[in-house]
Amino acid sequence: MELGQRRYPIHIGRGLLDAPESLAALVTGRHALVVTDSNVAPHYLARVQQALAGKTTGTLVLPAGEQEKTLARFGEVMAALAALGASRDATVVALGGGVVGDLAGFAAACWMRGVRLVQLPTTLLAMVDSSVGGKTAVDLVQGKNLVGAFHQPAAVLADVATLDTLPARELRAGLAEVVKYGAIADEAFFGWLEDHAEALLARDPDALAHAIFTSCAHKAGIVARDETEQGERMLLNFGHTFGHAVETEQGYGGLLHGEAVAVGMVLAARLSADLGRAPWSDTARLAALLERFGLPVALPAGLSGESLLGRMKLDKKGVSGRIRLILWAGLGQAEIVTDVPEDDILAILEG
Ligand SMILES: NC(=O)c1ccc[n+]([C@@H]2O[C@H](COP(=O)([O-])OP(=O)(O)OC[C@H]3O[C@@H](n4cnc5c(N)ncnc54)[C@H](O)[C@@H]3O)[C@@H](O)[C@H]2O)c1
Repeated sequence: MELGQRRYPIHIGRGLLDAPESLAALVTGRHALVVTDSNVAPHYLARVQQALAGKTTGTLVLPAGEQEKTLARFGEVMAALAALGASRDATVVALGGGVVGDLAGFAAACWMRGVRLVQLPTTLLAMVDSSVGGKTAVDLVQGKNLVGAFHQPAAVLADVATLDTLPARELRAGLAEVVKYGAIADEAFFGWLEDHAEALLARDPDALAHAIFTSCAHKAGIVARDETEQGERMLLNFGHTFGHAVETEQGYGGLLHGEAVAVGMVLAARLSADLGRAPWSDTARLAALLERFGLPVALPAGLSGESLLGRMKLDKKGVSGRIRLILWAGLGQAEIVTDVPEDDILAILEG
């Protein structure tokens, strides 16, 4: 698969990390810094290091988790690049999930005003979403992804075999983003997901490969048409304005990103139905599929509606203090809406 004017390959398949030549070919300059985390490193780091044996290579293993996607950790990546003596032809290799990809990607965007980035996603979420499309960022306590840059990778290599070691909860969180593509753009794919839910949960390789390929094709198409999110790309944020508010309010230690997106999508669908924009039956289908994937579909207890609304106002997608939401007209038909009254949003947040 190739993405847009700035064409780059997205390789999807089993055993790709076991092909040292193709991995080495992704690092074109002298220096490579491999950034990974403490859960991924024991499984896959040695293979990547071995493949890059001919290069001047550094490694940075960060503690795992969303709470590590910080400016402080970003500083550690900068320090590692400096220690490596990385020049402008350096490559940053992000080996891990979306946290590593976003953080290492932001470092690649900033080091010497931008060096080569190769994404080796190892979570389903990273394969279907975060590794493709060039968004990079770190979180602040004030909000998710508030500091970042657009920086497209030179290549994405998704070895589907790495999903064998992914904890079940993380697999399910990734499925939330897969469901999103059906919800916003592809009713037929949504139907396919309903038919193959059990196969996906059982990690059937063919079902996973189809889900990843279809998701990446949607993401690549949307990003190619609107790289810097002036319009259509915003549709990918279906469920995210609600979801980010939940994640931030919980301090990044509660629901996983994909779980928060699952809740957010159902809230966005319910709001759409409340406003008469979409049929209730589609909201029910969305919630039912997410539940089959073991995902939450309601707000966690103890969160204040007013506080969540405050978080939503700080969301990057907002304009001039107004909350901009991605709602839908039903399955496969997402739309950008800027004039939703706050009282209606609050009513959804307060159940
Ligand atoms: N840039 C984008 O366009 C974009 C899109 C969606 C999400 N995101 C970001 O992605 C992040 C979430 O990514 P994520 O869900 O991949 O989380 P993650 O990177 O935290 O990975 C999830 C967990 O799985 C572990 N792990 C990863 N791969 C593994 C493997 N193969 N085997 C065993 N353990 C493994 C990790 O160590 C971590 O504990 C969020 O920060 C979110 O904001 C970015």
